[in-house]
Amino acid sequence: MGSELPLVIEGGLADGWSVLDAGCGTGHTLIGLARAYPNVRFVGLEPCDASREIAQRLARRHGVGNVEFIDGAISGPALADRFEFIYSYGVVHHLPDPRAGLQWLGDHLADDGLLHVWLYNAIGEAQRMRDRELVRLMGAHEDATGLDVVRALGLSLSLDAYGMPGAWAGTALDQAEQDVFDADAYLNPVVHTLRFGDLPRLLDGAADWVAADRIYGPHGAPYLDLAGAGGFPAQGPELLRPEGLFGASELRARIGELDNLDRLRAVELLQQPTGFRALAGRGDALDRCTRRIAGNLLTRASHLD
Ligand SMILES: C[S@@+](CC[C@H](N)C(=O)[O-])C[C@H]1O[C@@H](n2cnc3c(N)ncnc32)[C@H](O)[C@@H]1O
Repeated sequence: MGSELPLVIEGGLADGWSVLDAGCGTGHTLIGLARAYPNVRFVGLEPCDASREIAQRLARRHGVGNVEFIDGAISGPALADRFEFIYSYGVVHHLPDPRAGLQWLGDHLADDGLLHVWLYNAIGEAQRMRDRELVRLMGAHEDATGLDVVRALGLSLSLDAYGMPGAWAGTALDQAEQDVFDADAYLNPVVHTLRFGDLPRLLDGAADWVAADRIYGPHGAPYLDLAGAGGFPAQGPELLRPEGLFGASELRARIGELDNLDRLRAVELLQQPTGFRALAGRGDALDRCTRRIAGNLLTRASHLD
């Protein structure tokens, strides 16, 4: 993640910033970032004791001194701080009310703060949502017997579906890790799936603008570049331009006429991503972002025009 943020924020996180990982889980992203940015202050918010304790152990093991952990939750009591950068990966779609959660996160942004979220995408997750419905219909609950039902139905989550071939850790998942992923995928009582187009409404009032960042799916995890800003090295990460999805010149011309929200709809319908990442911001925070992000705006508050 340390190397990814400069593709979103010009120069990455700035010294002196306060950063919140909202729903940090076992802390792998958080500790990686805290090591990459020793002059940034990090807060890991996590309501699950077992996960938070693993994250705390990881921080100790790496001798990381710039992270503080809070036993709390999005939509719970307000935190005392405001943050220049908040990220929340894989959490908001598990909240009973994603809009309330996003509004809570927006309330914790500093004046020119940025909010980065990773969410399940409704197009690519349609089959998993049907499988999940069947699992629950067959009587599965959130315990070990629930996983028996998942296995009896022949279901198993593949990280390849999230553009993470070979697993995050660089090795195949062991059975315990697979169980954790499958429990989250099929037994979690609350799962919402969303589209880019939902975000302006869900973030209304909490952020002044929203921009698309990246999609994740069986075809990989390209960075979106709706306006052709480019700027990636030739051997760098994959960039996706909507025009590049079409062979026929009349279709390339047609997509060129659409606004960014409709261009994203076309990308979602064609690529069927399982996940997507977006950035939202307050005030002049867009000035801190890369040209690619500035070209990916879904909405633009009138005071920024
Ligand atoms: C799928 S995990 C993602 C963890 C981590 N963000 C990552 O990317 O690996 C979801 C995490 O959200 C946490 N969580 C659930 N409800 C939450 C809430 N209301 N506020 C903050 N975290 C929450 C869970 O305990 C879990 O650790």
